[in-house]
Amino acid sequence: MVLATAHEIVEKRELAPRIHWMRVCAPLVARQARPGHFVMVLAHDKAERIPLTIVDTNPDEGTVTLVVQEMGTGTAEIGRLRVGDRLLGVLGPLGRAGEIEDVEKVILVCGGIGVAPMYPYAKAYRSRGAHLTTIVGARTREMLIMLEEMKALSDRLLVSTDDGSFGTRGFVTDVLAGLLSEEEQIDLVVCIGPAVMMRAVCGLTRPRGIRTVVSLNPIMIDGTGMCGGCRVTVGGEVKFACVDGPEFDGHQVDFDELIARQRAYVREESMSYELHKCAGRE
Ligand SMILES: Cc1cc2nc3c(=O)[nH]c(=O)nc-3n(C[C@H](O)[C@H](O)[C@H](O)COP(=O)(O)OP(=O)(O)OC[C@H]3O[C@@H](n4cnc5c(N)ncnc54)[C@H](O)[C@@H]3O)c2cc1C
Ligand code: FES
Repeated sequence: MVLATAHEIVEKRELAPRIHWMRVCAPLVARQARPGHFVMVLAHDKAERIPLTIVDTNPDEGTVTLVVQEMGTGTAEIGRLRVGDRLLGVLGPLGRAGEIEDVEKVILVCGGIGVAPMYPYAKAYRSRGAHLTTIVGARTREMLIMLEEMKALSDRLLVSTDDGSFGTRGFVTDVLAGLLSEEEQIDLVVCIGPAVMMRAVCGLTRPRGIRTVVSLNPIMIDGTGMCGGCRVTVGGEVKFACVDGPEFDGHQVDFDELIARQRAYVREESMSYELHKCAGRE
């Protein structure tokens, strides 16, 4: 039964500084969402559309769970909303549902906010009975999120922080490199996080021939294949991450192009954020 108004925030908490977990009323999306799907969120009538992964759903209550990290104006506007506030739009589910493969041993590699989009994959592989090793990395201990949830779904959870304040000091790739040298059989690596991290993970798995699935996060505008903003090159072919992905074979992705395109509007983005802060909306 749906008790809340459409797109109302029914629950919200802070997972880490500027990382917000929220449950939002969106009954139709909740019924149809599969791992890998995302929504386009519109905070108000002049807001930018912000793509956010559907982290979890409760079809009975008609809610979807979103986790948003404040990166600039759009995400800050969503982050400052409170329980009882309404988002203007929650469009979705968008993208192609991720393929949950019939494999035995899977390593999930999550960097920063990437833990949240990985959660539905962890649930899906767990329910398939796969053996899951999860690696979670963040810059510092206080930026680590959803560790308990991932631990509950994983056979083994390994954590790294850049500064060594929790778990292994270093990057997720250091932990992965150690695992790859000790494990004989790994069927699949799923990796979600910053593009540089996904590129580095693919650099480790490619020479060993371990299939690696990544979820790409190019700049998206409409989210429906119309604008071309999310263009990526995969296996030498042009793809649009919002309709052909966001999940792709990581060994085929042109990460250098993705990283360059992600940085195309850095100046405009930081000007917008400064204006947003000057307007006292921070
Ligand atoms: C399919 C998909 C799923 C995502 N899921 C999540 C999620 O679950 N949680 C979360 O916190 N973030 C997620 N993101 C990233 C999030 O959409 C961006 O951080 C957000 O759009 C930045 O907007 P902004 O106005 O706050 O920041 P801006 O100032 O506009 O940009 C800050 C940074 O975000 C990147 N960015 C800007 N606009 C977009 C855009 N429309 N799409 C993607 N990246 C952009 C820029 O390259 C820049 O580096 C996802 C992105 C994609 C494509
Ligand atoms: S966001 Fe416009 S084509 Fe993908």
